[in-house]
Amino acid sequence: MSKQDKLLEVKNLKQYFNMGKPNEVRAIDNVSFDIYRGETLGLVGESGCGKSTTGRTIIRLYDATDGQVIFNGENVHGKKSKTELKSLNRKMQMIFQDPYASLNPRMKISQIISEGIDIHGLVKTPQDRMNRVYELLETVGLNREHANRYPHEFSGGQRQRIGIARALAVDPDFIIADEPISALDVSIQAQVVNLLRKLQKEKGLTYLFIAHDLSMVKYISDRIGVMYFGRLVELAPADELYKNPIHPYTQSLLSAIPLPDPDYEKTRIRKVYDPSKHKLQPGEEMEFREVKPGHFVMCSQEEFEKYQKESLSVL
Ligand SMILES: Nc1ncnc2c1ncn2[C@@H]1O[C@H](COP(=O)(O)OP(=O)(O)O)[C@@H](O)[C@H]1O
Ligand SMILES: [Mg+2]
Repeated sequence: MSKQDKLLEVKNLKQYFNMGKPNEVRAIDNVSFDIYRGETLGLVGESGCGKSTTGRTIIRLYDATDGQVIFNGENVHGKKSKTELKSLNRKMQMIFQDPYASLNPRMKISQIISEGIDIHGLVKTPQDRMNRVYELLETVGLNREHANRYPHEFSGGQRQRIGIARALAVDPDFIIADEPISALDVSIQAQVVNLLRKLQKEKGLTYLFIAHDLSMVKYISDRIGVMYFGRLVELAPADELYKNPIHPYTQSLLSAIPLPDPDYEKTRIRKVYDPSKHKLQPGEEMEFREVKPGHFVMCSQEEFEKYQKESLSVL
């Protein structure tokens, strides 16, 4: 994977709902990040901080209020013909949190999986379509007998596998997985994460993996971005973020993860983030700055200098 090979660029993206009204929500406020081809970018933050909106705006389910999304060199929110939109829809797929709600209960698994295949005309005959469905079911660890059943006949983990098969059916390059394991039993979560990792290796997929806490993303992410109230507050390689979290909000998220170590648990102190602690000069705004190579933090100029000094003393 070349570091230069960006599959997705998100530049100063804004998504405001109910703009100008009293109930205006700045769901995404000036967020920028890149995703390299073949990597997984984890995106974490508590409920309501704008993770799903970021995913939906990237694939143009919503028109952006401002900013840009560049996918494979193409401006996603630019003027597009129907054919161009269709091809973008095929290359960027989404997997959803709730496998119960995201599968049509009245459709057989074969229909659910082959919907995209038909929309994009990817097979010539009904026999080819069924063969493709069988192949996809096996790819996600299910089997061909499952094709004729309905969603309610499956467990949560199996339904999420069906959701993954449906996304894979159109041969995407990029998958946005929006809390794909949050609704599953802990024992099943690792299986689904492992399946996603296996598929990534086999097919060279690129992922945006959304989660509300930092416990599971570690195992799948190359880099992790932390969101707080519509803003990206920290972005770093996964190991680095866990070892040297810099933004106080990231530190508070990390302090919330219990570890299976009783000694650690006795001393674990839950840190609470207080956003009023950031001091800004008159007219100054927080900026997303690179504190050390590849490690970005939303901070004031004064904090930036302090963080840089501290990170030098750690080395
Ligand atoms: N379609 C919408 N209309 C108005 N507000 C919305 C809409 N979608 C999301 N929001 C608001 O935007 C914020 C971010 O929501 P969301 O992206 O769903 O957060 P997350 O996925 O991190 O839980 C929330 O305050 C939510 O209420
Ligand atoms: Mg969400």
